[in-house]
Amino acid sequence: MAKLKFEDIDKIKEKVRKETYVREGEAKAKITVHMGTCGIAAGARKVMSALMEAFEKQGIKEVILTTSGCAGLCSKEPMMTVEIKDQAPVKYISLTAEKALKILEEHALKGNIVKEFALAVGSETIA
Ligand code: FES
Repeated sequence: MAKLKFEDIDKIKEKVRKETYVREGEAKAKITVHMGTCGIAAGARKVMSALMEAFEKQGIKEVILTTSGCAGLCSKEPMMTVEIKDQAPVKYISLTAEKALKILEEHALKGNIVKEFALAVGSETIA
């Protein structure tokens, strides 16, 4: 395998940025459910299943639903991140299916942060 050059890293970074960014006109929000081992052990599958069911039932097209690895806070799992275009991402912690559905309705679809379940907006702590 060829050695990576700085230009390659920049290209990869740009590609990932483009793929993960909430794209104008395609979606207004993105929900990432963190599904590392600790997330799954804490119930992330139930959170994901509830969201998938809601997307299916409600025919939601304006929100991207995706998964990633752990968010780095085992004790606060299950976690998810909600991103709205041009706003700082919000991390939600200690989720249940019910909490995740409320966050989908309120934050991802209506744009209102659900502060009671949020850990932080960007790198700032809310509570
Ligand atoms: S392994 Fe638990 S947060 Fe990464």
